[in-house]
Amino acid sequence: MAQLRVAVLISGRGSNLRELIAASSDAAYSAEIVLVISDRPEAGGLAHASHAGIPAAVVPHRDRVLFAAEAGRLLDENRVELVCLAGFMRVLDAAFVASWRDRMVNIHPSLLPAFPGLYPQRQALAAGVRFTGCTVHFVRPEVDAGPIIAQAVVAIRPGDDEVALSARILRVEHRLYPLTVRLIAERRVRVAGGQVEIDGWQAPNIASLNPRDPRQAPSVRGARVRI
Ligand code: GRF
Repeated sequence: MAQLRVAVLISGRGSNLRELIAASSDAAYSAEIVLVISDRPEAGGLAHASHAGIPAAVVPHRDRVLFAAEAGRLLDENRVELVCLAGFMRVLDAAFVASWRDRMVNIHPSLLPAFPGLYPQRQALAAGVRFTGCTVHFVRPEVDAGPIIAQAVVAIRPGDDEVALSARILRVEHRLYPLTVRLIAERRVRVAGGQVEIDGWQAPNIASLNPRDPRQAPSVRGARVRI
């Protein structure tokens, strides 16, 4: 089967983009990154695209409708089949989102529907929850909403601050996003009745995405979710 043609939309650092590019450099990976779009010319992630020789475009976000028109044209021109939002910090035009329904995904650093929007790690710390994590979901017009495809749990440690927690969640994001894109590319993911069904993939594997090396995260080991 041909590799799924993926575009990644970024606004900043692009570490998730970097991990998606790394995953797709394996010939056995079923998706390829064919286009990167940033709304900001200074986004650090653009360097990952250029190092990998992936076409990248800057489409300034002066207005939602104009951005959608220009981004949509580029996506069509490059025959993109899946759009991945990876640290893309703008709210997209609702008609554009609708036109990519179930073909556009986002990663968010919390266990949605908890803590949508800005500073989810700070929100989790302020709420005093013991577990947070990250979520990959299909995009709907509402911010950080839509059918959940995959989640991974990160335990909050005593004394955690926003920086430490964000870094630990990010390391898990770097595993979860390439895995989720692979599942989509292998045509294992479908939306039925507003929920996601994944073919040939068991929940315990998804839920045990915490770091494998217990020395890196001793408190996480005992907290691993069993379903
Ligand atoms: C990640 O935490 C992602 O979940 C959120 O924005 C951050 C982007 O990081 N949506 P990066 O640009 O991929 O390094």
